[in-house]
Amino acid sequence: ARKIIIDTDPGQDDAFAIMLALGSPEDIEVLGLVAVAGNVPLALTQKNTRMICELAGRPDLKVFAGCDRPLKRKLVTAEHVHGKSGLDGPVLADPVMPLQEQHGVDFIIETLRREPAGTVTLCPLGPLTNIAQAFLQAPDVVARVQEIVLMGGGYFEGGNITPAAEFNIYVDPEAAEIVFRAGVPLVVMPLDVTHKVLTTKARVDGFRAMGTEVGRVAAEWADFFERFDVAKYGSEGGPLHDPTVVAYLIKPELFKGRLINVEIETGSELTLGMTVADWWGVTERAKNAFFVGDVDAQGFFDLLTERLARL
Ligand code: BDR
Ligand code: CA
Repeated sequence: ARKIIIDTDPGQDDAFAIMLALGSPEDIEVLGLVAVAGNVPLALTQKNTRMICELAGRPDLKVFAGCDRPLKRKLVTAEHVHGKSGLDGPVLADPVMPLQEQHGVDFIIETLRREPAGTVTLCPLGPLTNIAQAFLQAPDVVARVQEIVLMGGGYFEGGNITPAAEFNIYVDPEAAEIVFRAGVPLVVMPLDVTHKVLTTKARVDGFRAMGTEVGRVAAEWADFFERFDVAKYGSEGGPLHDPTVVAYLIKPELFKGRLINVEIETGSELTLGMTVADWWGVTERAKNAFFVGDVDAQGFFDLLTERLARL
């Protein structure tokens, strides 16, 4: 099984990603989960991460709190998408599993130093603050990362927080720039692919039909999350962004993309946080990211439903 650290800001779609990983022990070993400020402030994302682990029957997992704000900017949140708690929809009990005392960034550094080089994959599902901070604090760990598979950015699909920028990159563009320029093998799940995995009624009914607590809660999360996107995009369901990252680790054959150069805009007010993707290879800039553009959406939902049903 591939060893991963999940870096997250739950977020209903983050919850699906975490549950997909926890339902796939033969493919994925979760070394720990680190919360970051993003969709909602850190006090909520760390609590939500623990609630999700408990829902998945894994109160033994280690959950850490990372950075409570972007490297250089004021935190921008997304309650308009995820609700006040970040996980609005079903009512869940407060978590009882502990929050680890160690800072999440120190956990990332320590884990990369402890595990054999090239055996730990980082899975960021929110702003890239914790990962960038770890690279700034401990440059020696950069070369030890096996791969970073992240959800963020958008190119042909544009942005979802500004016309040009996707939320995770927009919230901490300086952190994103550090990560994209680190020289670590990078796989990017942008809006171009996540806007193709929609929570249609049939798929949400599939969650409900599991007849489990996880299935019921998943369906209610999908329904809440969908409310925003269906109204906004006029689509047949909401995009389930973050679990594409975990699905890629399990079944990369579901996805198609290109190894290209991607740079992050950190200067312009108009296009701040834009992922400028050289999809057509019109520059000589070094190829630093496998930018995913297409997905077998039904294959993705079949995998997600199968693995969630195990929890
Ligand atoms: C990303 O932003 C968050 O709102 C979601 O959890 C996802 O990680 C989509 O732009
Ligand atoms: Ca997220």
